[in-house]
Amino acid sequence: MEGRVLSTQTAIKGREIFELLRDDLAAIEREFGRDTVSNVPAITEIGEYLRAGGGKRIRPALLLLAAKLFNYQGRGTVRLGAVVEIIHTATLVHDDIIDEAQTRRGRPAANTQWGNSKCVLAGDWLYMQAFKIAVQERNFRILDTLIDLTQQMVEGELLQMEKLGKLISLEEYFDLIFRKTACLFSVCMRLGGILGGASSEQEDRLARYGRDLGMAFQIVDDVLDLTASESILGKPVASDLREGKVTMAVIHALERCRPAEKKKIEAVLEDRAFDGVTHSDILEILNRYGAVEAANARAGEYAGSARKAICSFPDSEIKRVLLWAPDFVIAREK
Ligand code: IPE
Ligand code: IPE
Ligand code: MG
Ligand code: MG
Repeated sequence: MEGRVLSTQTAIKGREIFELLRDDLAAIEREFGRDTVSNVPAITEIGEYLRAGGGKRIRPALLLLAAKLFNYQGRGTVRLGAVVEIIHTATLVHDDIIDEAQTRRGRPAANTQWGNSKCVLAGDWLYMQAFKIAVQERNFRILDTLIDLTQQMVEGELLQMEKLGKLISLEEYFDLIFRKTACLFSVCMRLGGILGGASSEQEDRLARYGRDLGMAFQIVDDVLDLTASESILGKPVASDLREGKVTMAVIHALERCRPAEKKKIEAVLEDRAFDGVTHSDILEILNRYGAVEAANARAGEYAGSARKAICSFPDSEIKRVLLWAPDFVIAREK
């Protein structure tokens, strides 16, 4: 009961935040639409298909909040908000090719509609378009930050590929999720701070907030992959195991389980399919060792440390929203 009350309140608060950011997010949406038009129709079509597919727009929302913390009023947030969402989109296009994904945001993944070759090129084009818009800020720190970010994300995908099907340590897992998710969250907060004229100490606090929020976000994402339903998630469930990816709850169980149980998990990772072992067999093993709770607890710790990172900012409505956002990330169902 308590859990349900909490999640209703979370939903209301979530709507309030998007209400607060509605005009800016709409402007970012229009900017994204204008920015992803090319003379080559396939690029415009793929960009538009992805934009229209929706998505939570968490990254531009973070960038907006960070800039608003400093009462920033300029056009930069709209441009850079579009930049981070376009970079995110490009990584998703490439990621779905790499993962041979069928579904994204509840619709057929772009690769299933246009094929891998066109999607690789559209992803490249989107990356470059994001940088073209970022250059308009005439700020080398912003460019530096975005270049580092893109390299981290590409390295993360490569490292993950090398570790597919293998049992990785928690340390390796945290490194991977930092690169693939938390780094971009962190950059969104930092960019908002740069636009707002934050001191370097304030910028670092914002970046730390974004990183820890991103870590919590990805841990929860990985838990949802194991426990949620496809209709809510908008993509197939247990896809991480079928892709050979070991995530936090699975690592927790592997460190504690019996050899026979370990064999079952390894079988799924090796076969890249639930052949002899079912999804519920795996869930049973995870439950036996409190693995989902352990992962959720770790996400909770990251959420707490995100909040701590910004506690020294003066009190304001925006700060209250930022203090609450980790709850949204933790309580989300998709
Ligand atoms: C998906 O990110 C990729 C991950 C880092 C797990 P989101 O869950 O933010 O995806 P959208 O943008 O809302 O679709
Ligand atoms: C997300 O990686 C894409 C990047 C952030 C590079 P995943 O493959 O783990 O995420 P989903 O499950 O496809 O969204
Ligand atoms: Mg994927
Ligand atoms: Mg992937």
